Amino acid sequence: NSAEKGSYTWSSPSNIALVKYWGKKENQIPANPSISFTLNHCKTTTKLSFSKKENDDEFSFDVFLDDEKKDDFKPKIETFFNRIEKYLPFLKDYHFKIETANTFPHSSGIASSASGMSALALCLMSIEQALVPEITNEHFIQKASFLARLGSGSACRSLEGDLVVWGKHDQIEGSSDLFGVKYPFEVHQNFKNYKDTILLVDKGEKQVSSTVGHNLMHDHPFAKKRFKQAHENLSTLINVFKTGDIKTFIEIVESEALTLHAMMMTSMPYFILMKPNTLEIINKIWGFRQKTDSNICFTLDAGANVHVLYPENEAENVLEFIKNELVVFCQKGEYINDKIGFGAEIN
Ligand code: PMV
Repeated sequence: NSAEKGSYTWSSPSNIALVKYWGKKENQIPANPSISFTLNHCKTTTKLSFSKKENDDEFSFDVFLDDEKKDDFKPKIETFFNRIEKYLPFLKDYHFKIETANTFPHSSGIASSASGMSALALCLMSIEQALVPEITNEHFIQKASFLARLGSGSACRSLEGDLVVWGKHDQIEGSSDLFGVKYPFEVHQNFKNYKDTILLVDKGEKQVSSTVGHNLMHDHPFAKKRFKQAHENLSTLINVFKTGDIKTFIEIVESEALTLHAMMMTSMPYFILMKPNTLEIINKIWGFRQKTDSNICFTLDAGANVHVLYPENEAENVLEFIKNELVVFCQKGEYINDKIGFGAEIN
């Protein structure tokens, strides 16, 4: 790599929020703090090739997904470049080729924005570092997270693992609205190597984009109380992670998922983003927990798919339960076995 041309390749994972980010202010500032598990298997690998160009009056780039040119991705990246140009002044000096691939199917209903935007932000930071070599590792990750946030809010939680906090919280020193930070406190053994099996209930395009969803929180009758609750839930989780109290973990995580959906059901316009099979799965999970002493629980994104979370030592029993009782509710019987991961990697 020279300053004239070269390429960098980063792989960055998806993440699943335990306390949800839903609602934002100007410049992708979250209305409340959130915390997520970084995933391991679901990730995006992006190769960013760059070459110096003659003029510097506009952005110039091509995007490929799985070797296929994707012009419909360009507006989103153009918006991203516009937002970050003041932090990366070299953007208009180069022509970029962005080649990206996901480990999960594009049409799986799993958002690739967190993994995709964080991978791209990291590639851009590698160019920045080549131009400004004195950047420290800590600054590198922090600025990459800052940039990723401007691409897609939750993307700023994908760079590190295994737990990442984004948004100012008064008990978490170093937490910031501007970037994600690795969860700084003790985490009990009970929460190490947690598993996440993602049940693909609806693989279609999202019914409501997250941009529209966040905006619905602006005039939402319950917004204020919801943002306060997120702070409280995160406070409770600090103690849960310290003591290993899985029962309280389950209560917070499931309540957060249902609250996210309740916010959408009670906004104007209103949306129901669960499908009948989402509810079938939730009921089966509750039944299984009642019958056995399992610590299985669920969480949801802004869609119909279900993330089934469980401790590593229950993997065998839970997977059997999933295969026997839950897979029938998945579209084409598809699901993805994932687990907690440790963040992005340069290739
Ligand atoms: O990063 P966005 O703007 O796509 O928002 C993601 C919001 C949720 O996935 C629903 C919750 C979260 O905290 O990840």
